[in-house]
Amino acid sequence: MLILAVESSCDETAVAVVRDGREALSDSIASQTDVHSLYGGVVPELASRRHAECIHALAEKAVREAGISAGGIDAVACTAAPGLIGSLLVGLGFAKAAAFGLGVPLIPVHHIRGHVAACYITFPALEPPFAALVASGGHSSLLEVRGYTQYRTLGATRDDAAGECFDKAARAAGLGYPGGPVFDRLSQNGDPSRYHMPSAKLSGNPLDMSFSGLKTHVVNLISNAAQRGEQLDLQGLAASFSQAVCRELVSRLLAAMRTTGLSKCVLAGGVAANSWLRKYAAAALSEASAADGVDYELFAPPIPLCGDNASMIGAQGYYEFLAGHTAGLSHNARASCPADDELC
Ligand code: KG4
Ligand code: ZN
Repeated sequence: MLILAVESSCDETAVAVVRDGREALSDSIASQTDVHSLYGGVVPELASRRHAECIHALAEKAVREAGISAGGIDAVACTAAPGLIGSLLVGLGFAKAAAFGLGVPLIPVHHIRGHVAACYITFPALEPPFAALVASGGHSSLLEVRGYTQYRTLGATRDDAAGECFDKAARAAGLGYPGGPVFDRLSQNGDPSRYHMPSAKLSGNPLDMSFSGLKTHVVNLISNAAQRGEQLDLQGLAASFSQAVCRELVSRLLAAMRTTGLSKCVLAGGVAANSWLRKYAAAALSEASAADGVDYELFAPPIPLCGDNASMIGAQGYYEFLAGHTAGLSHNARASCPADDELC
């Protein structure tokens, strides 16, 4: 089955052709970082306009590069939630028109489920159940993936998303947008014990996370140093901060696996590209394997499939289709929506 997949939930417009949920025949992406870096973050109205300008050409390119004709498309999948509402509506409007024009089903896809599905393309033998840690600019969630379309939220951030912290810290330091890749680069030669970082104490669900205290701490460090005319060790700051964010994420991931008894886990979302997170998670799981006598396995997509792309939407779209989750042309986008919810 060939799915034309569309992603436009934030600041990347992407269209892909995906075969049977596991093979991306093409993935055309137009990043908008040039537009938003001027403002240090995503400007929703500008994002929608950019999506509208480039989506049609990207779709033509995706079909051409897949080596198929439009008539070979069996269904159109599209991110319908969560995300910036104007941006989502551009992609969904395009997907509806394509599905109507081609006379094929429309499959709304949850963006977070899509991030997880990036691993189906990377690891053809990977099947649920597994635990998933999805960390991006808008989300930080721990999920139990019981089946391809059966999700249960185990924990989530109470405040900021992990990627948002990298972005805000980089903005405060005048390092541009998005902050995650910049901090990752800077942190490579930094000393992670250079700056003390606070860790959040939360009551209630032990699998919930919090990043706002950490973010405020780093932003204050940066602005206080600027006021005093002091030079910060940016490499050390990036390393200390990255380690603190990863500690928060990985401790919850491990606790989630131990609580649920799941032995496989997936890292997904833009922050899954972080080199500290990948190393730290692998080391923690191998240590836990020895301690618990369980063969814990970690799956993380290659860097290009961690950030927003349309291949992941086509992969999840395939499984949503098999579950009968198709929608009519009146289907609406939703700015927020838990991954547990069925979109239709
Ligand atoms: O998944 P994504 O492309 O978009 C959303 O759904 O939000 O994630 C973007 C986020 C941004 O906050 C960006 O700074 C972060 O992912 N990011 C990283 C890295 N690469 C991207 N964070 C930490 N380390 C990285 N290497
Ligand atoms: Zn995303």
